Amino acid sequence: MKVLITGGAGFIGSHLADRLVNDGHEVVVLDSLLRGNKLSKDTFQCIHFIKGDVRNIDIVITASKGCDVIFHLAAVLGVDIVADNPVETMDVEVIGTRNVIFASEVNNVKKIMYASTSGIYGHSVFEKTLTEEILVDPKTSYAMAKRFNEIYLASHYQERGLSSISLRFFNVYGLRQDNRMVVPLFFEQAMLNQPITVFGTGEQTRDFTFIDDTIESCVRCMEMAGNEIVNIANEHEYQIKEVAQMIKEITQSKSEIHYIEAPKKRYDYEVGRRVGSSDKLQQFCNYKPHTLLADGLEKIYKEQYLKTSRNA
Ligand SMILES: NC(=O)c1ccc[n+]([C@@H]2O[C@H](COP(=O)([O-])OP(=O)(O)OC[C@H]3O[C@@H](n4cnc5c(N)ncnc54)[C@H](O)[C@@H]3O)[C@@H](O)[C@H]2O)c1
Repeated sequence: MKVLITGGAGFIGSHLADRLVNDGHEVVVLDSLLRGNKLSKDTFQCIHFIKGDVRNIDIVITASKGCDVIFHLAAVLGVDIVADNPVETMDVEVIGTRNVIFASEVNNVKKIMYASTSGIYGHSVFEKTLTEEILVDPKTSYAMAKRFNEIYLASHYQERGLSSISLRFFNVYGLRQDNRMVVPLFFEQAMLNQPITVFGTGEQTRDFTFIDDTIESCVRCMEMAGNEIVNIANEHEYQIKEVAQMIKEITQSKSEIHYIEAPKKRYDYEVGRRVGSSDKLQQFCNYKPHTLLADGLEKIYKEQYLKTSRNA
């Protein structure tokens, strides 16, 4: 198949490009390089790369020519960045998705795979795990835009039959991620023996999904038909202070764990509990993310930080 990945030079997109190239697909990447280029040299040589903004309709039409599927991942993210840039966040999400839908119609693309987020559950009330049917509660511009796009894609399927799958990622972590996210930030602090900074009591929980499992889920979801929303979650709940402690131990760091008050602009993001159900993914794709956090963190340490510190 020919596949376009918007945001394909980013963390998830670059891993997805590795996988799709390995599977023998023809891959086009469209990325503004807002966050640099995380594509490996080998993969870069095997893809067609277009530097451009997903808000530019002409570029999206050109990039998606002849494509069967579009993975639409281009987005502004990172809590502090989104909190400081709510308008750009909305623009990239809403205009970008509008362009991806329009270009799909022009070029007869069969399916859009959209990167949504567990963030749209916000402060949703739940007992065991968050399922796709639960009433969502998006509070931030980022989460609202993601939910808007899920509905937008659903309505397009109803009205015009354009197939789309919205993937609700739960805290993806892995190699090549940068320190906008908590796992690489804690690793960096630990490797430098600086304080590991945890907001609040650190008792807030998140569900961490390893990148390899995330990519496997994305690829399997390409087989789904119609319009669906699917959680990609590991179904394990970890307190942030546990994550800090695990990283401190894996890196054998002398860092202390410091508990600090979250800046006011982060309040809407400070959710007490978040853990997802991947039952729907299992039902449709016969697969669930399964890498234990300790194993994923160990892999990152060995393959990224240990190698780098040995080479330094
Ligand atoms: N990483 C996670 O834990 C997580 C969780 C939930 C959802 N997501 C979603 O998954 C997708 C990928 O996330 P990621 O972690 O790889 O982030 P990332 O920031 O590494 O990748 C996003 C990419 O989009 C590009 N981009 C930004 N604005 C653009 C624009 N206007 N035009 C073209 N390209 C642009 C950036 O340069 C970057 O390469 C995003 O849509 C994100 O919202 C990620």
